[in-house]
Amino acid sequence: MSETAHRPVLVVDFGAQYAQLIARRVREANVYSEIVPHSITAAEVQAKNPAAIVLSGGPSSVYEPGSPALDTGILELGIPVLGICYGFQVMAQSLGGEVANTGLREYGATDVVVAGGGGTLLAGQPEAQTTWMSHGDSVATAPDGFEVLASSASTPVAAFASDERKLYGVQWHPEVKHSTYGQAVLENFLHRAAGLPGDWNPGNVIAEQVERIRAQVGDARVIAGLSGGVDSAVAAALVHRAVGDQLTCVFVDHGLLRADERRQVEEDYVASTGVRLVTVDAEQQFLDALAGVSDPEQKRKIIGREFIRTFEQAAEALVLEARAEQAAHDGAGEVKFLVQGTLYPDVVESGGGSGTANIKSHHNVGGLPEDMTFELVEPLRTLFKDEVRAIGRELGLPEEIVGRQPFPGPGLGIRIVGEVTKDRLDLLRQADKIVRTELTAAGLDAEIWQCPVVLLADVRSVGVQGDGRTYGHPIVLRPVSSEDAMTADWTRLPFDVLAKISNRITNEVREVNRVVLDVTSKPPGTIEWE
Ligand code: XMP
Repeated sequence: MSETAHRPVLVVDFGAQYAQLIARRVREANVYSEIVPHSITAAEVQAKNPAAIVLSGGPSSVYEPGSPALDTGILELGIPVLGICYGFQVMAQSLGGEVANTGLREYGATDVVVAGGGGTLLAGQPEAQTTWMSHGDSVATAPDGFEVLASSASTPVAAFASDERKLYGVQWHPEVKHSTYGQAVLENFLHRAAGLPGDWNPGNVIAEQVERIRAQVGDARVIAGLSGGVDSAVAAALVHRAVGDQLTCVFVDHGLLRADERRQVEEDYVASTGVRLVTVDAEQQFLDALAGVSDPEQKRKIIGREFIRTFEQAAEALVLEARAEQAAHDGAGEVKFLVQGTLYPDVVESGGGSGTANIKSHHNVGGLPEDMTFELVEPLRTLFKDEVRAIGRELGLPEEIVGRQPFPGPGLGIRIVGEVTKDRLDLLRQADKIVRTELTAAGLDAEIWQCPVVLLADVRSVGVQGDGRTYGHPIVLRPVSSEDAMTADWTRLPFDVLAKISNRITNEVREVNRVVLDVTSKPPGTIEWE
């Protein structure tokens, strides 16, 4: 069963990171998609009743022993299939075409020539176009009954089609933006070849999820941990839309938050959603637990442990309260459910199963208490981050929350290199606020995935301010651009914006006399410093 009412387009994952990107591009064409492993059988495919299938690229050669195979029965189901790169070659081989190890690699921008008007797949596209390729083997001969739609200098069959069998393939990667007409290839496949209308959008998810949540929860009570981040905020707002005051949100203020975050949750979020919120003031508890600790792993462990304790206590108090109420008025529901803002990439990366067992206990509420007996409500399980933001906006959440950059569960605690103290947190909060304000003022938010601001509390350098010598700490700016945080590049911020940030921080934040820019990609550097 698909997780929504829409018949999915199944993206068969042959490895590497292409499948998620393809799934996103399909959704950008307003068609719902789901990723499945390449080990899926034809019967399993049929059971999912897909509207179409896309075979992804992958790192292997079809000639390698043990290279990922496909149940070729899938190609006989009469469901439209598009093979991409490795998926294209697997298709060619299974259908009786010839895949040759030509020794001619094509990597990067590659010119292709479209033949015979391009057929359904390349309809409306220019005869000469630039595509993005990455392959060693090539399809030398198309299977019988297939029309060749394009070729490149070293690949005689760069795209093929059989309209009759509704089977299509391209050697290049249409999901990559460097393929100039890539999205058009996907749209031709989905809308023209498979005849799908393009009527899915993240907004549909609201109505669908509200129904699902009501069916799951009944009249029981639900709790949700809010982290201040986008995912937990949107997940809780969806559940609130579905079951109203059966939901109580818990927000743990661990003192490691950024400036204004608590107010945004307590005032703006509550005002826009009407949720019942319990805030737990745990700053001192966290500071005490972190005193004297500089090792990053230890800090993370301590913060995680304290978070779980605090959250559990709050949850227990709510359960007790509900029981008392239940005793008083028969019929008030039990607290049975916990909301989690698990996103689709988490589901896919942890095995893509449909149960809750194999889901990463993700960081949204700082890791889940293992012995908690709550059942999970996960209304964002089918969604990518940008879709979650779109839903949050549609639910009327404040832009400061919906548009917020990803922020780690352990908060500013892992952005202070050295011991975490209240004083240092205050310094870092001030610097971080300046950075956020200036980046937003310069209109750079869309370009930046996130910009950690790091205080090197264990480092001092000599400076001069006024007439005096100073011996202060450096602040590091770590602006990165990324699609998914798995890889990232440092963002080339305009010099004048950097200059303004640097001036403001060194003037306004005491004990900081130097601002430095981190110019490392990921890999080798991670996004966070700890
Ligand atoms: P790294 O530093 O591993 O970060 O490149 C990748 C992404 O994950 C975020 N991050 C975390 N998020 N809990 C979280 O909720 C954590 O412990 C944590 N550590 C890193 C980081 O901000 C980036 O977006």
